[in-house]
Amino acid sequence: MELLIEKIKNEGTVLSSSVLKVDSFLNHQIDPHLMLEIGKEFAQRFADSGITRILTIESSGIAPAVMAGLQLNVPVVFARKRKSLTLVNNLFTASVYSFTKEETSEISVSNQYLSENDNVLIIDDFLANGQAALGLAEIATKAKASIAGIGIVIEKGFQDGGSLLRDKGYRVESLATISSLDDGSVSFKQPTTKTKVELTR
Ligand code: G4P
Repeated sequence: MELLIEKIKNEGTVLSSSVLKVDSFLNHQIDPHLMLEIGKEFAQRFADSGITRILTIESSGIAPAVMAGLQLNVPVVFARKRKSLTLVNNLFTASVYSFTKEETSEISVSNQYLSENDNVLIIDDFLANGQAALGLAEIATKAKASIAGIGIVIEKGFQDGGSLLRDKGYRVESLATISSLDDGSVSFKQPTTKTKVELTR
């Protein structure tokens, strides 16, 4: 997705050889125009999949998921990472370990918003080690829902998440795949070509 790749080139900051900062449009401030295009792209890729519901995780998955839900005309449910005052009973839960943060969190979704009648599209902002996506898939499985696929805004192709999920048989659609963040620069893996961009910040 060229628009997204351009945005990463123009506004992304390489914090280390494994972390890309994109706070200006995805993780803190949100670019609604870009997010709408991201939603359209997910909707187009999964147009024939019979999606009934989108499942994401707070907080940065919500914006792209809502735009995709708007385009596919389906509701969007987000897993909560923190205990909620109103979300206490009848929950589907999964434990998610973050290698980045070295902590485990319990994520939960009410059984009111996910059922065996659902065909779910899982959406998240970043794919690193795949643990969040796996946790969402576990929740969908507990609800006996079908999983049509996993849509990712930015996949870090040099980490294990993509192969972990694809090896499990999930259809993973990433809108931008980064092959390396070495030497302060972002390299993109594209279906046909590879582009290397020097980021000076
Ligand atoms: P995993 O789910 O793929 O295993 O990823 P991991 O635990 O390593 O990621 C933990 C958090 O860090 C997630 O956000 C994830 O989106 C984010 N993250 C991972 N790699 C990068 C990166 O290179 N750049 C940025 N900007 N974020 C990254 P989170 O803590 O759930 O945050 P949020 O969704 O509340 O914003």
